[in-house]
Parts: sequence; C-alpha cells; structure tokens
Amino acid sequence: MKIAIGCDHAGPALKAEILAHLDERGIEYKDFGVQEGEKVDYPDKAREVCSAITGGECDLGILICGTGIGMSISANKVRGIRAACCSDHFSAKYTRAHNNANVLCIGARVVGAGLAVELVDVFLETGFEGGRHKRRVDKIE
Ligand code: RB5
Repeated sequence: MKIAIGCDHAGPALKAEILAHLDERGIEYKDFGVQEGEKVDYPDKAREVCSAITGGECDLGILICGTGIGMSISANKVRGIRAACCSDHFSAKYTRAHNNANVLCIGARVVGAGLAVELVDVFLETGFEGGRHKRRVDKIE
C-alpha cells in the first residue's frame, strides 16, 4: 500500500508527525508537500494528491489543512475520489468500511497529533465491506 500525502500551509507540522508514524510502521508514501514556510492554496494540493490516486500511483491519500474541510470539499470534486474529513475514530473507520473513502482529510487546527495518527491507523487498517455498501458507492460514482 502506498499513501499520497499533502497539506497546505496550516499542516506541515502535523504532516511531519504523520510521516514519522508511517516511517515507524514501514508504510510507503509519497509526500507532495508543502514544507514549513511554503504557502499553497488547498485546492491545488488536493488536486495533486488526488491525481496520484486516480492515476494509480498511490492507493489512499491523506490531506491536511486548517480544518480539513477545504481539502475535503476540493478532493471530492475529483472523479473517483471519496474524501472524508474525520476527527473521531468511528468516522475514520466507517468511512472506509461503508463509503470506501480513499482520502482522509484532517484539520491540523482541530485535532492534535496523537489523535491524528490514530485516525490514520484506523483509516488504513479498515477495509471496504462491499455488499450493500458497494451498491450505494456505485450510485455516487
Ligand atoms: C488556510 O489558512 C485555511 O483556510 C485552510 O487551511 C483550511 O482550513 C481551509 O479549509
């Protein structure tokens, strides 16, 4: 599994914490930036990360902005992307299990690093249940 990850200028510190966690777990990723001190408009970064997923280079994505909401609104405009802004474990689990979400959005100004890495773990460890949920996801597409 390869993760595409990116953030706007609100997210470099949290992104660094998540990358350290992915390193620790041996999970492969591609970091689309930005780094501390750089600025970017979140829709531009969302498109870059989402293109890596729809293009097949990466399997799942993580997007970070101040609230997580701008990234999720932007990512959901990309065909084939199902992005969920999560700040609790239950949502992070069931957006994978039921919505087959392929991008997790996190608000760096909403959740702390401890919770954020747990959200990432739950998101990455949960599989899509398929069945009746597939019919619903197919309708979205
Ligand atoms: C940037 O200051 C902020 O607006 C952005 O990170 C995000 O919160 C938008 O949804």
